Amino acid sequence: MTETVPAGRLSSVSSGNALELRGVTKMFGALAAISDITLTVRSGERRAVLGSNGAGKTTLFNCVTGDFLPTGGTIRLFGEDVTRFPAYERIRRGLRRTYQISLLFNGLTVADNVYLACRGVSRGRFSFLRPRESDALIARADELIAAVHLQDWRDISVANLSYGQQRQLEIALALAGAPRLILFDEPAAGLSPTERSELIAILQGLPGHIGYIIIEHDMDVALRVAESVTMMHNGTIFKEGTPEEIENDQEVQELYLGDGHA
Ligand SMILES: Nc1ncnc2c1ncn2[C@@H]1O[C@H](COP(=O)(O)OP(=O)(O)OP(=O)(O)O)[C@@H](O)[C@H]1O
Ligand SMILES: [Mg+2]
Repeated sequence: MTETVPAGRLSSVSSGNALELRGVTKMFGALAAISDITLTVRSGERRAVLGSNGAGKTTLFNCVTGDFLPTGGTIRLFGEDVTRFPAYERIRRGLRRTYQISLLFNGLTVADNVYLACRGVSRGRFSFLRPRESDALIARADELIAAVHLQDWRDISVANLSYGQQRQLEIALALAGAPRLILFDEPAAGLSPTERSELIAILQGLPGHIGYIIIEHDMDVALRVAESVTMMHNGTIFKEGTPEEIENDQEVQELYLGDGHA
């Protein structure tokens, strides 16, 4: 049952690094939520971050996105030092994220949600759009809806989607604009086996130049959607390797599988 990501699609398009963290630390009072994290993710790379609850995974994302300023260390995004940049400056450079909780417009349809996301990142967002620009945005929104397998649901309101479909829609929103690196925070959490397979297919089908980091508790999902794995523990990086190396690592098995693994 294990399908790995087709090798030809991995890291083939872009060169250079999407993300370079050097000694990144985030303190909350006396607690080091993450401590001295050094990590490089290549452009187009697909990386899974694993670790038990409280390991610091979401804090790491928050530092990368600019939701939190790190207490120490540097963060480079596509070669540029963005350590002190606000979140919107990182978004402008092609960074996107999804959250552990849902942030959709419930009263709107699938198509409206995606259209608004496309419009939000288009140049004409503060003006009335001319019909041709508006047509292009609608076409783009439909492409993204198809990319997340929701074409049969485009005119359904978000409130009537299943939980898994809402997570799919969130991926479409993250794809609006021209993302180059997407951070997915546990997109598979709470999904049924069928929804999980759908998510895996969607992630595998993303264009090769879009890299991502996915926080994932399920090693089986990580194995199928990521080419590299970073294991976190107590705010530090415990191990890095291919999914197969991590899965077969004795220390990982002792620590992770015996340590609150859901
Ligand atoms: N805003 C905050 N204020 C204070 N402490 C925080 C804050 N955010 C996270 N922490 C603490 O930092 C540590 C790491 O939390 P984080 O949410 O990054 O873990 P996680 O690996 O994402 O866990 P989970 O798998 O449960 O989502 C935890 O001890 C948490 O309580
Ligand atoms: Mg988290």
